[in-house]
Parts: sequence; structure tokens; C-alpha cells
Amino acid sequence: MSVNDSLIFSTAGANPSDADAPTEPCVMLVFGASGDLTRRLLVPALYNLACDGLLSENFVLLGTAIDALDTESFRARMSDDIRQFHTRQSFDEAAWSELVARFHYMPGGFGDLKHFESLKSEVVRLDLLHGARGNILFYFATAPKFFGLLCENLYLSGFKGGTGFRRIIVEKPFGTDLASALQLNRDVLAHWNEDQIYRVDHYLGKETVQNLLAFRFSNGMFEPLWNKNYIDNIQFNVSEVVDVQNRGGYYDSSGVLRDMMQNHMFQMLAYLCMEVPGSFEPDAIRNEKAKLLQSVRVYSPDEVDRFTVRGQYGPQSDDAGSVVKPGYRQEKDVNAQSSTETYAAARLHIDNWRWEGVPIYLRSGKALWKRGTEIIVEFKKAPERIFRGTPVSALGANRLIFHIQPYQGIEIQFQAKVPGPRLNLQRVNMRFGYGDAFKASRYTGYEVMLYACSHGDATLFSRGDLVEAAWRVAQPILSRWSETVPEFPNYARGSWGPIEAEALMDRDARRWHEVITEDVIRAVPLFKDADRFLHEQIILALRPEQLAAGEVVIKKGDVGREMFLLVRGTVEVLDDAGHVIKELSDGDVFGEVGLLTSMPRIATVRAKSAADVFVLAKADFARILRDNPSFAESIKRVAAERYRLVLETEALLTPH
Ligand code: BG6
Repeated sequence: MSVNDSLIFSTAGANPSDADAPTEPCVMLVFGASGDLTRRLLVPALYNLACDGLLSENFVLLGTAIDALDTESFRARMSDDIRQFHTRQSFDEAAWSELVARFHYMPGGFGDLKHFESLKSEVVRLDLLHGARGNILFYFATAPKFFGLLCENLYLSGFKGGTGFRRIIVEKPFGTDLASALQLNRDVLAHWNEDQIYRVDHYLGKETVQNLLAFRFSNGMFEPLWNKNYIDNIQFNVSEVVDVQNRGGYYDSSGVLRDMMQNHMFQMLAYLCMEVPGSFEPDAIRNEKAKLLQSVRVYSPDEVDRFTVRGQYGPQSDDAGSVVKPGYRQEKDVNAQSSTETYAAARLHIDNWRWEGVPIYLRSGKALWKRGTEIIVEFKKAPERIFRGTPVSALGANRLIFHIQPYQGIEIQFQAKVPGPRLNLQRVNMRFGYGDAFKASRYTGYEVMLYACSHGDATLFSRGDLVEAAWRVAQPILSRWSETVPEFPNYARGSWGPIEAEALMDRDARRWHEVITEDVIRAVPLFKDADRFLHEQIILALRPEQLAAGEVVIKKGDVGREMFLLVRGTVEVLDDAGHVIKELSDGDVFGEVGLLTSMPRIATVRAKSAADVFVLAKADFARILRDNPSFAESIKRVAAERYRLVLETEALLTPH
């Protein structure tokens, strides 16, 4: 998707014919300019806008922070960092030189009014020099504890008056609990108006998140189904492979509920479940979002116990039992007895006419097996009884899956008849991939935010009432959790999360729908040489199965006809005497030789705990190979290298 296309939608409040106009002229005054956010996201976003001709020629940046830099050293530092953090295919020296020449820096403390007066004089000078028309955009790329102080000092030093706009962009987190968020709103609004405050949630900068509204409201076929009459449940999943990554100090006072759910996930929830707005005007959308979050049930302590689960990752060990990666409590700047959750799952209730009785499940965690953000809308099943007397024993639910990242797309799953004389069904899908339909560009998400803010379009920013509504839902959970000491760690690094999250679903007789991504399939050695198309074919052919503890999955001597991908749980590989020689866990693959030959299995595999697996049957694999002969050649190569198996193409292509 070209940047121009992407911006047409995001600037809903602006005149559509201006969609590829550059940003409004302005001086951007960045507090915290020497910090991580500026170099990783803000500057690369400005650079992208500049490269795409979307940054006004009358734009100028003044950075400030306590660090003793000057304009020259600031420019030098940014010039180093941009080479590391830019997101474009190639680096455009000329565009960068032109941009960085408009960067300035003044050191100073956020509590020092004298410094604010100097900043003011400098802003006036730069405004005149660059023709910024008196417009000032303040960017608070600082810790939240400074937000109130900055608002006050900007006001006291006379920044509010004068011609041109004054807009303040505030980074997350907006408050650390309900009381602090309410206080922060009071502090910020003491001197500034709500329509001057732009609270960032970078998830709203993601194309796939913005598309939730386009999808719902520009297509006639979904909205009539979008309610409790047709939808059984909705699942929001944000899994991260990364751990706390040197952010232990911040994270230990935050946790996943504050860091991901209360903001990013609630934003997606609001988009997906809100009522139809009267127009695409920023406040029409923001009214509906706030109303939706106000309808989410605020839990009693007892409901928190019933409907939420928290977890924390422990260390990862190798086969010999040695720790290869630390657990959360061993991370830098983390309390060794920390009760901070790195994983959370919850069932929420939306108490309104549209969603009453439809469970809304959310889960998110760090140091998990797979990276992926997906929203799964599961429809009510068709009646199975009408298939009695046919080979069909169970029907799967129709699902609409929004793949937010890293794969970006939308998928619909349904049943189709398998060709042949009998009535057999198989799950199939229809899929739209952003990369196939649009020329995809990799943006940081901040381009759209800066662009929209410069045009005064607040659609993508959170209004104070939404933030407060989100905290009202999160607060009782935080409060209840703080009353008890959890038994942490309760999930291993690299796993699918704590087992309690399964129990949450089991109680409702439902299951988390696991989306297997291309990354997962690419990590299987046998498939490493396949392309994206083939990976997707394999993903579609996977069939979910559950194993009971103690169940034998593979028996030595039997002829195997399938491969297993272990999603969750532990299985044991046994020798002839029944001794455990190896344990496999989340993300491991076993039995893959069964896809290649009809040789008997060489070991027994038994489920140690209840486990979820995906099964790839040889018949399906052979079909994929028959349709893609060059893939068969690559499989033969890998089989020879890895398993020392010399295979005939014919054997690979036979279904049995
Ligand atoms: C940030 C959180 O807001 O979002 C991080 O502070 C998290 O902990 C990040 O990793 C996830 O963002 P994304 O865009 O990678 O999903």
C-alpha cells in the first residue's frame, strides 16, 4: 500500500482531495528528544514522510532533554541512529541531509521555567526562519510523570497564546491506574483544552487496525451478522516472542495488563465491537468507542478470580537442564520476587444489546512461542444433526480472522465438500493478504499519527473519556491481583503461556483458536526451503487435535502417516524399555518422517500432560507436493541431509 493510499483513510476528518497534501507547517518541540522513542520511531517516521513528499517544507524540529547535547551533536547522533532504524529499502542521503538540517536542540530540565523561556524564544526564531506560520506541535516523548509538569510549564511560559495551532501529543502510558489517569487528565486539562490533546496509542497507527473500521462499515455483508444472534465468541490474541528486553525497570511496575491490554487491546476491542458511527468524523467515532468501553462490565473481586488469569515466564533450559535464558525474575532491573504479570488472559462481558452473552476473550504475553496479533470472530455453528447418516461427525465453526501482524490479512474459514462420492467435509478458507493486494511499505505507524495531528484530525488519538473508561475496566483486576501473591513463574519461556489460560476456556467449553503463522512453519526444518505460498498450503492442511495425559501418540513399529506440531503441553519420547529419552514442548515438531516414507516409527511418543497438537496428514502433504513438484525436490534434498533418507518422488506423492 502506498503511503498516499494509507493516509486517505486515516485522515477521515480532512478534505479527501487534500489527502496527499503534506503536513501543515509547524515547529515540532520534542521533549525527551535524546531518548529511545525519538530515535527509534519519531525520527524514522519524519524521514519516511520527507521521503514520500509528505512533510511540509516549513517543518522544523526543536528537541530538548536534560542531556548536554547541542544542535550539532544532536544532528550527528540522529544521523547515526537513522541508519539503524529507518524502515526503507534503501537510504536516501539527500532526503536525510535536507531533513536533519532542520533539527535543532537545546538542553534543559523539565522543571526549569527559565529553560522554557529560552525554548519559547528559540521557537519564535525558528518559526520566522522556516515560515511555520506560528503552529506548534509539542511532543511529550518522556516518562508520564512529566506530562502534568510539562503542560503547566508550557502554559506558564506563555506558549498557549499567539497565532497558529497548539497541539500536544502525549505518549502512553496515560496514567498507571484509574486514580492517576483521572489526576493526569485534570492536570493536562487545567491549562489546555481536550481538542488540543492527542493521546497516542501506536496500535491505532497500524493499517490493519484502522482497517477494522473500513472492513466493518464499508461492506454490506458483515454488519447484519455482527451481534449476539450470529457470533458465538470473539478472541483477541497478542503473543510476543520478545521478553522485557532491557526494560525491566519500567516493566516491573507495569505488567501486561497495563502495558498491552488496557490500551492497545482495548482499542482493538472498541473498533471491533462499537456501534455504527453516524459519520467518520473524529468525534463520531470516538463517541462510539468510548460508549463501547463504558459497556464493558466492571468486575467484582469474585469475578476477577473467575474471569482472569495471570502468568509470569520462568527460565528456559536446554535438554541437559541448564538455564539458557533467564526467567522474568532474573531479568535486569526486575525484583527477584516480582509478582508482575508478563501474561494475562481474561474473559470480558459487554453489557449492551448487541453483545450481551457473547464472551470476549483476550490474552497477551511476553516470551511466548509465537509472535502474532490476531482477532478471531467465531460464528455460531450450523446444526450438526442434519448431517446424521453421513460420514460427517462434527462441524467446525465459521471464523473470520483479522491477522493484524506480522502477517497482515483477513481470512474467512468455512467447510467445503471434499471431492469424491461421499459427503466428507474439510475446513477451507478465503484469504486476503495486504501484501498481495497492495504495494506494502514498512512504516513505523507514527507517520500517520504525525500527519493526522498536523492536520488536526484526532480520529487516531484517544480522548480522555475513553482512557478513563479503559482504566475503569482494568482497575478492579489490578486491585484484586495486588491482594494475593501469585505462584510465579507459571509458564516456561518459549511456551504458549500458563495452563490456567486453558482452564478459563475449558470452563466455557471453548478453546483458544491458535493461528499458526508462516514463521512457525518456516522454523520446521523440513519446510525451510518452501515459499510463502507453500507455507500457507501447509497451514491450511493442519488439523487441530487434543491429547489426553498419558495418551500414546506414536507407537514404535507402527507405520506413521502424519507429522505433529505440538502447540501446547509436553510429550515424552520413550526408548524400548519405556524410559523417557527426551521431552518435547510448545513449538516442537515430531513424527515428520511419517510424511516421507512408510517406514515403521522408530520410537514411541506419549503425552506427558494434556496437549494440543496440529496434525499434518501424509495424504494432505502428498497432495500439496503433487501440486508443487519443485517443492517435492526440495523435500528430497532436506530428507537426504537431515534424515539420511534417499526418497523416490513416487513414494512422496502417494497419499498412503
Ligand atoms: C508497547 C509495549 O506499547 O507495545 C511493548 O510497551 C510491546 O511492551 C509493544 O512490546 C508491542 O508493539 P507492537 O507494535 O510490536 O505490537
